[in-house]
Amino acid sequence: MKLFVYHTPELTPKDPAPECAIAIDVLRATSTMATVLAAGGEAVQVFSDLDQLMEVSEKWPPAKRLRAGERGGAKVAGFELGNSPLDCTPELVQGCRLFISTTNGTRALQRVQDAPIVLAAALINRAAVVKFLLEKQPETVWLVGSGWEGSFSLEDTVCAGAIAHSILQQTHLSQEELAGNDELISAISLYSQWQDNLLGLLHQASHGKRLLRLECHEDLKYCSQTDILDVLPIQQEAGVLKKQI
Ligand code: MLT
Repeated sequence: MKLFVYHTPELTPKDPAPECAIAIDVLRATSTMATVLAAGGEAVQVFSDLDQLMEVSEKWPPAKRLRAGERGGAKVAGFELGNSPLDCTPELVQGCRLFISTTNGTRALQRVQDAPIVLAAALINRAAVVKFLLEKQPETVWLVGSGWEGSFSLEDTVCAGAIAHSILQQTHLSQEELAGNDELISAISLYSQWQDNLLGLLHQASHGKRLLRLECHEDLKYCSQTDILDVLPIQQEAGVLKKQI
């Protein structure tokens, strides 16, 4: 198994597709997706375009759909939800499909949606992702950070490093054997330095600061936790993720 890290959708190669692609948006899209599926949501369907989201979700039974829209960290007017995982309670999401569009996270998923296996990872479901990789042993794995509007973000890279670090701990692979590119090695170093203070790192991250300005302190706390949800969001058809049973 070789792991490659790409910091943003823009830096991700167009081909050849890897056996497994993992989209990461710790703050907050993939944290929200994992939370919705763990709380009993039927599926998560991602859109880069808000109008397209409205058009497709309109055909879904109203009682079985939730629309989540975020731009610049804030909720989009007219949507039931923004992008806070803390709003996704079992009472609200049980049996519903979440139609979601966010600034960067949904774009990362769309960027890799043609890979044979597509997963969504965050710190909160890191162990479930690692368990899947160790069982499946895909030859090539891309860890694709969402970044922020084309630039690097600390929180996605540290999550990529957390995944790789856990694989190294559970196998006899050396870092050199596992690393497909230099970015993977730097992601592991970032995680090694911050693993005991991930919330502190999120507070230093530019998007973390943006969310703090929007009073999302509790979101940062929640998203900085590691391995709290045993849920693996896996793509079933282009743009639709369900919980792997
Ligand atoms: C994104 O897709 O850029 C993020 O999930 C933004 C957010 O924190 O809502």
